[in-house]
Amino acid sequence: MSGIGLAVIGAGYWGPNLVRNAASTPSLDLRWLCDLDEQRARVVLGRYTTVKSTASYERVLADPAVAAVAIATPAATHFDLVRAALEAGKHVLVEKPITSSVSDAAKLAGLAECSGLVLMCDHTYCYTPAVRRIRDLIRGGEIGEVQFVDSVRINLGLVQPDVDVLWDLAPHDLSILDFVLPEDVVPVAVAAQAGDPIGAGRACLAYLSVWLSTGALAHVHVNWLSPTKIRTTVFGGSRRTIVWNDMNLGARLMVHDRGVDRVPAGSLAPEERRQALISYRVGDTHVPALPEQEALSSVLSEFGAAIEEHRPPLTDARAGVRVLQLLEAASRSADNGGTRIPVRMEAGS
Ligand SMILES: NC(=O)c1ccc[n+]([C@@H]2O[C@H](COP(=O)([O-])OP(=O)(O)OC[C@H]3O[C@@H](n4cnc5c(N)ncnc54)[C@H](O)[C@@H]3O)[C@@H](O)[C@H]2O)c1
Repeated sequence: MSGIGLAVIGAGYWGPNLVRNAASTPSLDLRWLCDLDEQRARVVLGRYTTVKSTASYERVLADPAVAAVAIATPAATHFDLVRAALEAGKHVLVEKPITSSVSDAAKLAGLAECSGLVLMCDHTYCYTPAVRRIRDLIRGGEIGEVQFVDSVRINLGLVQPDVDVLWDLAPHDLSILDFVLPEDVVPVAVAAQAGDPIGAGRACLAYLSVWLSTGALAHVHVNWLSPTKIRTTVFGGSRRTIVWNDMNLGARLMVHDRGVDRVPAGSLAPEERRQALISYRVGDTHVPALPEQEALSSVLSEFGAAIEEHRPPLTDARAGVRVLQLLEAASRSADNGGTRIPVRMEAGS
């Protein structure tokens, strides 16, 4: 039996990665590549292929052999394209960010739920072996209570024509936070500062703070202007600390048994209290072994599995909505000089 009939929409920078991985996913059967520039789609497919190219999205949606679409077009087009696909009865995988506003994303999430269709967000990093292990370590209690998260994602990046750096890069960090934090640890407020020192007309670097319900604080630095590429996130816990350096291929994750312990004041004599309230712990560092596996291959397998098993995918539309809630609040804060904006998150993660 052949797999789920799939069309990829968008043959720009990211779409070809979906095409390559879809072609090697057993549960999927790639049938179309659609781009407004059909020539671009043809070049991506090459000469020896049975996959059809077209510039007409309507033609793809009208094909009864297509049960699902994977959309990799600019963010501003996502709402209309996803809605049309859902209304045509197709399952949808859509690139981050799911739409350009929370209200649009919530409409799509509701439409998919009412129609019994899968609507999945490509929050790619959530499918990397490193992030999956981080989630297991945090949710399994290995590092204790999360006290802080510090993420740096900086590089010489393409200044995007339609979104600023917050909307381009921070969805990665915010979707990772959403994925790894325990379900009862949720963002309660956001503040962001953003800058455009080259006069590009949109923010090219930004600093984003996210306060969590436990009192912990997460910080994200995204930047298109850095000559050095840094992709490091530190998850500080009450028992251990995880350092994820995605550029260190041999040891992407390190788990440090080091930290600061607070000695309960009641257990100390009054004369000991002043010096002994804080004690430093210096223990071993552990490097978990991780499989080398392309995240996008797991994204497409999960999409196929969610459709076959009639269940929500790991990163469903509600996860996309929660990421947008933080992004919208961050933009509002940045527009208001970095003021703290309270957020009330969608339930469930
Ligand atoms: N998950 C990731 O790590 C990751 C990485 C890069 C980009 N992305 C996301 O992928 C999406 C696309 O980004 P990109 O960098 O590939 O953009 P791009 O501009 O390089 O390519 C977009 C393509 O979509 C086509 N297109 C636009 N509207 C269309 C329509 N209505 N029908 C058919 N084709 C249409 C354009 O002709 C273009 O070829 C964005 O949402 C971006 O955030 C995700």
